Amino acid sequence: MIGRADRLRRGPFREGAFTSRLHSERLGAILGVALGVTFGVCFLTGLLSHLIQHPPGWFHWTSRPAGVYRVTQGLHVATGVASIPLLLAKLWVVYPHLWRWPPIASVAHALERLSLVPLVGGSVFLLFSGVASIIRWFPWHFSFPRAHYWASWAAIGGLLVHIGAKAASTRRALGREGAAPVVAAAAEAGPEGGLSRRGFLGAVAAAVGVLTVATVGQAVRPLSGLSALAPRDPDVGPQGFPINRTAHEAKVERLATDPAYRLLVEGRVADPLALSMDELRAMPMREATLPIPCVDGWNVSKTWRGVPVADLLARAGASADLRDGVLVESLEPKGAYRVSMLDPAHARDPDTLLALEVEGEPLALDHGFPLRLITPNAPGVMQTKWVGRLEVR
Ligand code: HEM
Repeated sequence: MIGRADRLRRGPFREGAFTSRLHSERLGAILGVALGVTFGVCFLTGLLSHLIQHPPGWFHWTSRPAGVYRVTQGLHVATGVASIPLLLAKLWVVYPHLWRWPPIASVAHALERLSLVPLVGGSVFLLFSGVASIIRWFPWHFSFPRAHYWASWAAIGGLLVHIGAKAASTRRALGREGAAPVVAAAAEAGPEGGLSRRGFLGAVAAAVGVLTVATVGQAVRPLSGLSALAPRDPDVGPQGFPINRTAHEAKVERLATDPAYRLLVEGRVADPLALSMDELRAMPMREATLPIPCVDGWNVSKTWRGVPVADLLARAGASADLRDGVLVESLEPKGAYRVSMLDPAHARDPDTLLALEVEGEPLALDHGFPLRLITPNAPGVMQTKWVGRLEVR
């Protein structure tokens, strides 16, 4: 006699509903470990980017070595992109699990199922919003970094519960060749032929490799010729390198080209300054070769020439400790990145410049004319363009 519960066992709940041998515990475990690594790297590098841009009191970011952020953020985007085929493959391998009977076997099982909501939802959102952001497509009205940041905590929380729940079966599956399929009986009854597990893993690895090589050239110069899918070519843009926001978009053209322009140096200083361009040009200049590492993963290194911020602060009689840093304000009337904070280490670094020139040419308006902040080891969004004011805090 068939019980009521058994009668409900229809469609994908039916025994033998999934026949592919690729729904295997071992494949799920291998892909899970790979995703654990890429998500771990993404989370740590993303968290670092967040802390640099919104530093809590306990966090101090160094200005040296100058190129650390370009490596960490390049890695963030590269491991994020590599996670796309890994996640798609993983979801396909394990989705028969969602149709297990009974759907909920115990309280622990219910909690483990529940943790999949932030894990899968958060992961899909992170990968989608990340890719949309690097191709500069914003089909939403919320703040991308804030939503991406909170989604990463949700996904990582879900991932930790998932790792706890699956640690034993992962160890078992990785311990011996050909561990049980996700739906054992079904796989045994499944058709012969088709893609082998090894072939499937090879295809996923090839997709990861091709996607990585096709995009990473925006951060790793020697690969730029192969990176057909890279959202940015670091050689393309005004003066031969990219911009994210033009002077026109920032509505700053009139203010930046006004002959009455003055750089203000104010705040906790003995002698506030209001310097014209001629006065700035008459100050001792310094040259520094430094990268602009974009939060979107691309970076470009250029030789900049300008006035060291430390000299301007000394001339204004700022106290040497610069305890609470220096606020750098753009002429840009509105925008999420119109101000940035220089912490004491960056403000004191001799290579932190208000640049007037790049590669021996006057700075183009789209690159921040009349003055652009250039500072070692800081995201491009913190290298404020069209600087109008420094305020010692
Ligand atoms: C294709 C995948 C991904 C891409 C392209 C991507 C891209 C980005 C970009 C462009 C930023 C900089 C945002 C900004 O400061 O304006 C960022 C920040 C961040 N990402 Fe991702 N990401 C991806 C996946 C992930 C994943 C899987 C995680 C976590 C597991 C993650 C965690 C973070 C965190 C915590 C931040 C810092 C957000 C903030 O500044 O508040 N990302 N990501």
